Amino acid sequence: MRVYFDYNATTPLSPEVAEAVARVSRDVFGNASSVHFFGQQAKATLDEARTAISTLLNGDPSEVVFTSGGTEADNAAIRGVAEAAEARGRRHLIASSIEHEAVLNTFRALARRGWTTTLLPVDQSGIVAVSALEAAITDETALVSVMHANNEIGTIQPVAELARVAHARGALMHTDAVQSVGKIPVDVRALDVDLLSLSAHKFNGPKGTGALWVKRGTRMLPILTGGKHERNRRAGTENVPAIAGLGVAARLAAGKLSAEATRVGSLRDALETRILAAVPGTDVNGARTTRVPNTTNISFDRVEAESLLIALDLEGVAVSTGSACSSGTLEPSHVLKAMGLPVHRTQNSLRFSLGMFSTAEDVDYVAGILPRLVEKLRSLTRKPVTA
Ligand SMILES: Cc1ncc(COP(=O)(O)O)c(C=O)c1O
Repeated sequence: MRVYFDYNATTPLSPEVAEAVARVSRDVFGNASSVHFFGQQAKATLDEARTAISTLLNGDPSEVVFTSGGTEADNAAIRGVAEAAEARGRRHLIASSIEHEAVLNTFRALARRGWTTTLLPVDQSGIVAVSALEAAITDETALVSVMHANNEIGTIQPVAELARVAHARGALMHTDAVQSVGKIPVDVRALDVDLLSLSAHKFNGPKGTGALWVKRGTRMLPILTGGKHERNRRAGTENVPAIAGLGVAARLAAGKLSAEATRVGSLRDALETRILAAVPGTDVNGARTTRVPNTTNISFDRVEAESLLIALDLEGVAVSTGSACSSGTLEPSHVLKAMGLPVHRTQNSLRFSLGMFSTAEDVDYVAGILPRLVEKLRSLTRKPVTA
C-alpha cells in the first residue's frame, strides 16, 4: 500500500494535463513570438492558458505573466515592485513571518542591499493581525506581501483587509497564493491585490511553470532582462507545453473547486479526528476553521517528527515535516516558531496534505497504523506524555 499525503509539496499530474503537455510537446513546437503559422499556433496555446488562469482568478488575460513557478513569481513581484518604487523614495517592504522561503529569502537579499524590511508576527493560530500591519506600515512602504494560505499549516490570511491598509498608505499588495489556487476560490478583485503568485505543480499541473498575476497599471520592473516576451514583463521564450498543462489544470480546478474542496475536506477532517482520538498527546497546529481544506498539521508529543516521517515512509506513507525545502535538516519550522509554540512542538509536528487522488482507504490505512508507530517511537524515549 502506498499513500501520498504530501500534496502541499507537489501533486501528481491530472491525466488531462499529462495528455495536453504530451500533445503540445509533439504538435506545437513554434516560438510564440514568431509571426508565421507555427509561432501563431504556439501563441494561441499560450492565450488559451492565459484565459483559463484569468477565469480561475477573475482577472483579465492581459494581466497574466507566465513564470517558471511560484519562486520566480514571488521574486518578480517583490524585486520588481521594490526596484520600481525606489525612485519614489519608497524603500520599505513588509511581509509576514510565516512566508515561504521564496519570499523570506528575497526579503533577506534586499535587506542586505539597503531596503528596510519588516516581518509581521502571527498569533498562536497562525494568522496575521491587521493591526500588526497598521502599526508597521509607513509612507515609505512600497509593498506588503502576505501569503494567502500557508504551506505548512494551511491557515488563510486576511488578505483583503491587509490590502485595504496597504492601499490607504500608497503601498502595493502582493499575495503568494501558491497554496490556495486550485483549493479554494481565489478572486483577485475580491482580495484587492495588485500582484498574486501561483504555481502549476501545486494543483495537478506540471512542475517548473506558474504565473504572476499583475493588475493592469501596476508599476514594476522585470527581473529578467532580454526580449519583449509577456508584454515586456518576463523575458525568455515561453515553455509552451508546460503552460498548456497549467491552463488545463486551471480549467479543471475551476470546474470542480467546490465539490473537490468538500470531498478532500471531509477526508482531511476524518483523518484528523481519528488521529486525535486514537493517539494520545496529539494536537492540531494552527486555526482549524480558517484554513485550506486539504491540510492538517499535527504535533505528536514525545516523538521526533523526522523519525515518525521515516517510520511512515517505511509503511508506504508519504508526509512531510513542514516545508519540503527544509526537510533533511533538523531545523525547527519557522512557521510553528513564529506562532509561539514551545520548541518541542516545533520539532514533533507532521503535515498531512491531501488532494486529487486521496481516498477514504488512504485515511483508514494511515489512521490505522499511526497509533502503533507512535507508541513504538515513544517506547524508545523515557519522558512522560505531557499533552
Ligand atoms: C507558499 C509557497 N510559495 C512558493 C512556493 C514555491 O513554488 P515553486 O515550487 O513553484 O517554485 C511554494 C512551494 O513549496 C509554496 O508552498
